[in-house]
Amino acid sequence: MKREITLRINDRDETLVVEDADTLLEVLRDRLKLWSVRESCGVGACGSCTVLLDGRPVSACLLLAVRSTGREITTLEGLSDGQALHPIQEAFVSERALQCAYCTPGFVLTVKALLDKNPNPSDDEIREYLSGNLCRCAGYADILRAVHLAREKQSRAPVQRK
Ligand code: FES
Ligand code: FES
Repeated sequence: MKREITLRINDRDETLVVEDADTLLEVLRDRLKLWSVRESCGVGACGSCTVLLDGRPVSACLLLAVRSTGREITTLEGLSDGQALHPIQEAFVSERALQCAYCTPGFVLTVKALLDKNPNPSDDEIREYLSGNLCRCAGYADILRAVHLAREKQSRAPVQRK
């Protein structure tokens, strides 16, 4: 069945007609052209499609769009102001924590949720929080360093960004 819904995405309301079975991933990519939200496994096992729902990381491939109304959805496109990178993105670049970068949007958003919740995580806490995000290029040591650099950047200069 089709229905009209309004989604709150990156601080904007988007009203569109969707099928009941459309996933949030399909709507974000195919309808709204938010290309940072990437499909890989399609079954909630890899984290490539991670978005923030009310600040918490979720797999958009597992969530129906009709169940996402009334929530704050953040994709990577909503993280920076379009001019400068977010400190977490800067840290990933500085630490070369990406190779093909397919997994990177999901990692960056998950790191954001982690640091919002726990500004000074240990290595074990970082590994545990990021355990749902897979990197096929296996850059986990670089990603760990990037999280620590992002933590330092954010503690040195709290920025009024999302
Ligand atoms: S594509 Fe959604 S978790 Fe892998
Ligand atoms: S950088 Fe290639 S999958 Fe992670």
